[in-house]
Amino acid sequence: MAQDPAEIAPLLEAVLPEVAGWRRHLHAHPEVSFHERETAEFVFQTLQRFPGLELTRPTQYSVVARLAGVQPGPVLALRADIDALPITEENEVAYVSQHPGAMHACGHDAHTAMLLGSAKVLSTLRDRLRGEVRFVFQPAEELPPGGAQPLCDSGAIDGVEAVVGGHVWTPLPVGTLAVKPGPMMASSDTFELVIRGRGGHAAQPHMGVDCVVVAAQAIVNLQQVVSRNADPLKPLVLSITKIHAGTTNNVIPDVAELAGTVRSFDPEQRRQVPGIMERVLRGVSEAHGAEYELSYQFGYRPVVNDAKITGWVQEALLDRFGPDAVVTPEPSMGGEDFSAYQTKAPGTFFLIGAGNAAKDRAYPHHNARFDIDEDALRIGLEAEVHIALHLLARLGETAR
Ligand code: NI
Repeated sequence: MAQDPAEIAPLLEAVLPEVAGWRRHLHAHPEVSFHERETAEFVFQTLQRFPGLELTRPTQYSVVARLAGVQPGPVLALRADIDALPITEENEVAYVSQHPGAMHACGHDAHTAMLLGSAKVLSTLRDRLRGEVRFVFQPAEELPPGGAQPLCDSGAIDGVEAVVGGHVWTPLPVGTLAVKPGPMMASSDTFELVIRGRGGHAAQPHMGVDCVVVAAQAIVNLQQVVSRNADPLKPLVLSITKIHAGTTNNVIPDVAELAGTVRSFDPEQRRQVPGIMERVLRGVSEAHGAEYELSYQFGYRPVVNDAKITGWVQEALLDRFGPDAVVTPEPSMGGEDFSAYQTKAPGTFFLIGAGNAAKDRAYPHHNARFDIDEDALRIGLEAEVHIALHLLARLGETAR
């Protein structure tokens, strides 16, 4: 197994300018979720130039590259998401988005470029690889139902024994890598709520049923699902993010429309939330003579990192970057469809520090001025290659 860092360093060094170039090209040509036609084509054509890869397009706008080592062994998947966001970029950089209304404001351009770089480096080590590395370029992470689940359903992840995904992260300083076992990202469910009263003259409230008042009660009571029904040791978020009713001053409206999101790390707690919401809404509506309709959609599952695989990833990162560079992150209530892969194989999702205030690279993700410190590309690429080699070795040991 080629794991001598001195041997790999020149390979990384050689591919790094290409990785930066690919990232800038992708940044300038962003495509939003489920529209990654050119991006997928770019990925496919770039991968075609590397030896020993078997390329497939399992779903629309996805690309999967299989690198089978000359010796049989375990199968590891590395995943990059490739989609951009519907944001108009406000940065003034040479590689600024050429597509108004679309922007790589979450760093998925960097993920794509780094995974291309990893594929190139590892493909040159093919004659010494024991096992298979599967490079998964996934569309539509940003927009539920997401691109990961269809890839899993297509069979593209079958046979995989471990799956790893990295995410550049500007709240984390460049040079730092964050990895932890257990809950990492929350489930992200959504709901729509309609409350129906009986409209009428605002001066005669007793003649109707005021949906605005019922909506207000519903909002307050739904907050108590979190504070009174959820185990305080299990984080739960229930946010009402939209409320709309009425058109003018002297009319009580018929209908109030609300929407929101629910976040959790615990599958059992998550499963119970819609039923508790129904109970609260039924009681509040009945108390005031109103009716309600709740439509609840389960979105991405929580990302929960496997203890064993995460431990091996930590080993690889500590070995390569030292203890000062490897930190333990707080879990995030944000969502990620990386969780879909974790239903197929144990895996871990880790963060690659990409922020640098001194270079004005510290804007939050999904901001119109988001950008990464490109030094993160070197670290992310090196991390991916070493994780791949270390995991293949570790998985191989276990199999023996
Ligand atoms: Ni992202």
